[in-house]
Amino acid sequence: MAVLSFMAINFYLLFSYSKVSAAADTITSSQNLTDGKTLISKNGSFELGFFSPGQSNNRYMGMWYKNIPVQTIVWVANRQKPIKDLSGLLLIDSSTGNLVLSQNKTVVWAATLKRKAQNPVLQLLDSGNLVLREANDENSENFLWQSFDYPSDTLLPGMKLGKDFRNCLDRQVTAWKNQYDPSPGNLTWAMKVNSYPEPLMWQGSKKVFRSGPWNGVQYSGKPTFRPHPIFDFRYFNDGNEVYYMILLVNKSKIARMTVNQTTNSQHHLVWLEAKQRWDRLASVPRDFCDSYGACGPNGNCNIKRVPSCECLRGFKSKSPERWNALDYSEGCVRNKLLNCKNDGFVKYIGMKVPDTTNSWLNERMTRNECREECLNNCSCMAYTNSDIRDGGSGCVMWFDDLNDLRVQPDAGQDLYVRVPASELENNDGLKWKIGVILGSASVIISAMLVVLCYRCRSRKNLKADGAMLGYTSEEQKEDLDLPFFDLSKITTATNNFSMDNKLGEGGFGPVYKGKLGDGQEIAVKRLSRSSGQGLNEFKNEVILIAKLQHRNLVKLLGCCIQDEEKLLVYEYMPNKSLDSFIFDQTQRRLLVWSRRHDIICGIARGLLYLHQDSRLRIIHRDIKASNVLLDSEMNPKISDFGLARAFGGDQSAANTEIVVGTYGYMAPEYAMDGNFSTKSDVFSFGILLLEIVTGKKNSGFYCPNDSLNLIEYAWNLWREERPLELIDEYIEENCNLSEVHRCIHISLLCLEQHPQDRPSMSSVVVMLGSDAVLPQLRQPGFFIGEHLHGESSSPFKNSTTSVNGLSNTVPEAR
Ligand SMILES: *[C@@H]1O[C@H](CO)[C@@H](O)[C@H](O)[C@H]1NC(C)=O
Ligand SMILES: *[C@@H]1O[C@H](CO)[C@@H](O)[C@H](O)[C@H]1NC(C)=O
Ligand SMILES: *[C@@H]1O[C@H](CO)[C@@H](O)[C@H](O)[C@H]1NC(C)=O
Ligand SMILES: *[C@@H]1O[C@H](CO)[C@@H](O)[C@H](O)[C@H]1NC(C)=O
Ligand SMILES: *[C@@H]1O[C@H](CO)[C@@H](O)[C@H](O)[C@H]1NC(C)=O
Ligand SMILES: *[C@@H]1O[C@H](CO)[C@@H](O)[C@H](O)[C@H]1NC(C)=O
Ligand SMILES: *[C@@H]1O[C@H](CO)[C@@H](O)[C@H](O)[C@H]1NC(C)=O
Ligand SMILES: *[C@@H]1O[C@H](CO)[C@@H](O)[C@H](O)[C@H]1NC(C)=O
Ligand SMILES: *[C@@H]1O[C@H](CO)[C@@H](O)[C@H](O)[C@H]1NC(C)=O
Ligand SMILES: *[C@@H]1O[C@H](CO)[C@@H](O)[C@H](O)[C@H]1NC(C)=O
Ligand SMILES: *[C@@H]1O[C@H](CO)[C@@H](O)[C@H](O)[C@H]1NC(C)=O
Ligand SMILES: *[C@@H]1O[C@H](CO)[C@@H](O)[C@H](O)[C@H]1NC(C)=O
Repeated sequence: MAVLSFMAINFYLLFSYSKVSAAADTITSSQNLTDGKTLISKNGSFELGFFSPGQSNNRYMGMWYKNIPVQTIVWVANRQKPIKDLSGLLLIDSSTGNLVLSQNKTVVWAATLKRKAQNPVLQLLDSGNLVLREANDENSENFLWQSFDYPSDTLLPGMKLGKDFRNCLDRQVTAWKNQYDPSPGNLTWAMKVNSYPEPLMWQGSKKVFRSGPWNGVQYSGKPTFRPHPIFDFRYFNDGNEVYYMILLVNKSKIARMTVNQTTNSQHHLVWLEAKQRWDRLASVPRDFCDSYGACGPNGNCNIKRVPSCECLRGFKSKSPERWNALDYSEGCVRNKLLNCKNDGFVKYIGMKVPDTTNSWLNERMTRNECREECLNNCSCMAYTNSDIRDGGSGCVMWFDDLNDLRVQPDAGQDLYVRVPASELENNDGLKWKIGVILGSASVIISAMLVVLCYRCRSRKNLKADGAMLGYTSEEQKEDLDLPFFDLSKITTATNNFSMDNKLGEGGFGPVYKGKLGDGQEIAVKRLSRSSGQGLNEFKNEVILIAKLQHRNLVKLLGCCIQDEEKLLVYEYMPNKSLDSFIFDQTQRRLLVWSRRHDIICGIARGLLYLHQDSRLRIIHRDIKASNVLLDSEMNPKISDFGLARAFGGDQSAANTEIVVGTYGYMAPEYAMDGNFSTKSDVFSFGILLLEIVTGKKNSGFYCPNDSLNLIEYAWNLWREERPLELIDEYIEENCNLSEVHRCIHISLLCLEQHPQDRPSMSSVVVMLGSDAVLPQLRQPGFFIGEHLHGESSSPFKNSTTSVNGLSNTVPEAR
C-alpha cells in the first residue's frame, strides 16, 4: 500500500513536472496543447493558449501579452469556429505535418502551409509570432507558416500589413465583431495596391479612412509626431511585396495598433507601465475631414473653416441646393471644361493627396517632367512628387475626379491641380494657394554645368592588366581601348549624382543621366560599394565586358574606379527601356507588330552573341524588359550583361549559391537550385517574348487564381488551340498573324520545364527568321498544376533574390 501511494506521489510529481514543461515556447509533433496549458515565448513576453473573451463561454485559441494584467488578445486562430467546451487540442498532425486545432477529433481550424513539413515544430517567438518551422531551420525565410501572415485585429511591431505576391498573401487587419466575439467584423485595414499603393480602412466594401500613400517621409493623410516617440513607421515596395510596418523605437516598450468595430476606428496604443493601462496615442479617423470623401469628388475639406467643404478652384458644386444643405456627397464639377491646350495648374500646399485608385506613378521623373507629362495628357487632373525628400522627386498623376482631399498642414504635401488658363486670371481667393504656374509659360531650367574639358586619362596603357588575363599580345592591343574617366568629370556631368538625373535603379546600383563637356549624353551606372572583389579583378572584368561589342548590346564607353566609387559609363539610350513601352497604356500603341518583331529578333541576336559568338560566353542571368534599352531608332540593346560576372558572381561554375535575377523571369532550375546555363537565359527570353506579344507582364505571382500568371495563361490558350487570343489588343489589327503565332510557339519552346528541351539561342534566331516547321511542345511552365498552396512543394524553396545588397530587381512603376 505504502509503495503504491509512494508511486502515486511520484506519478503526481512527474505529471506536474510535465505540466510545467508544457509552459515552454515550443511543441513538437509528438506533443500537443490542451485547454489549460499554454506556450510562453522565451523571454516571457507572449503567451499562447485557450481563452474566453469577456463573459462568453466559447473557447478560442489565441495569443496575449504574458506580463500585462489586462487581458489583451493580439491574435486568434479559430476566429469563426469557437470550441464550446474544454476539449480543444492544438497539435501538429503527424501524417500531414500541418498545424491543427481540433475538438473531439473534428478539425476546427488548420494552418495553410507553404509546403509539406518533414520534422516540424511549433514555436512562439518573443515578437508575438507563432511559427511552424522545420526543427533544424530557424531561418525566418523558411518558415512553413507564421501567424504574422494571418493577422487578427492587431498589428504588432514587426508585422507586415500588405501583399506578398510571390506567396499570394494579403495580410490585413480585421476588427472583432464585438468585444465578446472575435469573428471577423466589417472593419478592415488593408493595403490597396494601385499604381501608387496606399493603406486603406474599409467598412464592408465602403472606404472609411485613407491615410494617404507613403511620400518618403510619412503618410500624407495621417499626421504623426516626428520623430515619433513610440513607433518607427516603414513602407516597403519592390514589386514582389508591398507593405506597411511599425517597429518600436524603444524595444522595451509595449505598443500595438488595432482596429475596433465598436468605435469604428484604428487605434495606436502604448502600455503605460506606471498606470498599468493602455494609453491611446492616436485614433483615426479623427474628424469630419478624415471620413472618406467628406466633401465629395473634387471637393476640398478644411477642418479650420466653417463650413469645412469647398470646391477646388475652377470647380463649382454639382448640386448647389444639396451643397448648401450641407450634403456634399455629389461634390464639385468644373466651371469650364478643360480645353486641353491652354491649361495651367493651381498649387495647393499642405494637402493630403487624392485617392490613388486612378493614378499613375513614375519614380524616375522630376517634377518638371511630371508637369509636362500631365499637360500632355488631357485626362490628367493633378500631379505631384511621389517622394518629397530632398526637394522632391518622382511623379504621380491623377485621372478622373479627385477624391478624398483635405488640407493637412502638418503632414501634407504640394498638389498641382489642373485648371484652364482662364480660371487662373482672377488670382485672388484662396488663401493657401501660393503660386500659379501657367502651362504656356515655359520654365527654362538652365543647367549650370561647369564645362570641364574632356581631358581624361583615356587610352591609358593597360598592358599590365591585359597581361594578367593571359591573352595573346594581339588581343592585348584591343584591350587598351577602354577610357578611364575622372570622377570629377562624371560628378559634374551628372550634377553630383542628383536625384533629378537619376534614370532608375538597376540590378547593381542606380543609373544616372549625364552630359559630358562636349555635349555627349551618357548613362552612368554607380555600382553598389559592397563587392568583395579586388580592384584589379574588377578592372579586368570590366575591360573584358568593354570588348563585347554588338549592335544589340549597350555600348560601354568607359569606367571610373576612384576612391570608393566604381562607375560604368554607357551610351545614353533616349527611348529608355522596353518595359516603358510594352507595359504602358499610351506608349504601347507606338509599338506596332513589325517593330516588335524587329525588337524580338534584335534581342535574340544580342543574346546569341553573348552566349556563343563573343569570346567570353556570357550568361546574362537577368534578361527582362527593363534590361532591354531602346536607341533613337528603337533598336533594342541589352544592358547589364556581364555584370553578374564582374561583380562577384562566379560564372564559370554551373551552380551558384547567390541567385541573382528577377522573379517572374527565372528558370525553375535556377530559382530552385541555383543551376544556371545558357538555357536559363533562354527561359527568360521566352518570358520576355511572351510579354512583347501580349503586352502583359508576367508578374511572377504564382497565385492559383492569378490571371497574370502569363505562362499558364498562354499554355492553356495554346492547348485549347486559340493562342491568338494572347495578342496585345493594340497590335491585333495589322499584324502578321502567322508570324505572331510562330513567336508564341517559340516562346513556349523556350519555356519548357527541362533545360534540355529548350532550344539554344542560335536555334531561336534561326526559327525566328525562317518558315521551317517548329518542334512540338512538351511541358511548358513548370508550375502548371503545382501551386504553393497545394501539397506540392514550393518551386522557390531556397532562392534569394539579393545577397550583399545586390538586389536584382528593378523597382518598376506599374
Ligand atoms: C496529448 O499529449 C498527451 C501527453 O502529452 C497524451 O497523453 C495525449 O494522448 C495527447 N493527445 C493526443 C490526441 O495526441
Ligand atoms: C465526441 O464524439 C463522440 C462520438 O462522435 C460523441 O459521442 C461525444 O458526445 C462527443 N463529445 C463532445 C464533447 O462533443
Ligand atoms: C473596442 O472599443 C471598446 C470601447 O473602447 C472596448 O470596450 C472594446 O473592448 C474594444 N473591442 C475590442 C475587440 O478590443
Ligand atoms: C458593420 O457592423 C456594424 C455593427 O456590427 C453595423 O452597425 C454596420 O452597419 C455595419 N456596416 C456595414 C457597412 O456593413
Ligand atoms: C526604453 O524604455 C525603458 C523603460 O521604459 C527605459 O528604462 C529606457 O531608458 C528606454 N531606453 C531608451 C534608449 O530610451
Ligand atoms: C522579449 O523580446 C522582445 C523581442 O526581442 C522584446 O521586444 C521584449 O522587450 C522582450 N520582453 C521582455 C519581457 O524581455
Ligand atoms: C493618359 O494617361 C492614361 C494613363 O496612363 C492613359 O490611359 C491615357 O490613354 C492617356 N491619354 C492620352 C491622351 O495620352
Ligand atoms: C557633391 O556631393 C558631395 C556629397 O554629398 C559634396 O560633398 C560635394 O560638395 C558636392 N559637390 C558639388 C560640386 O556639389
Ligand atoms: C525615340 O527617340 C527619338 C530620339 O529621342 C525620338 O525622336 C523618337 O520619337 C523616339 N521614339 C519613340 C517611339 O518614342
Ligand atoms: C541542378 O543541378 C544538380 C547537379 O547538376 C542536379 O542534381 C539537380 O537536379 C539540378 N536541379 C534542377 C532543378 O534541375
Ligand atoms: C535547398 O534547400 C534544401 C533543403 O531545404 C537543401 O538540401 C539544398 O541543398 C538547398 N539547395 C541549395 C542550392 O542551397
Ligand atoms: C479561385 O477563384 C474561385 C472563384 O473566383 C474561388 O471559388 C476559389 O476559392 C479561388 N481559389 C483560391 C485558391 O483562391
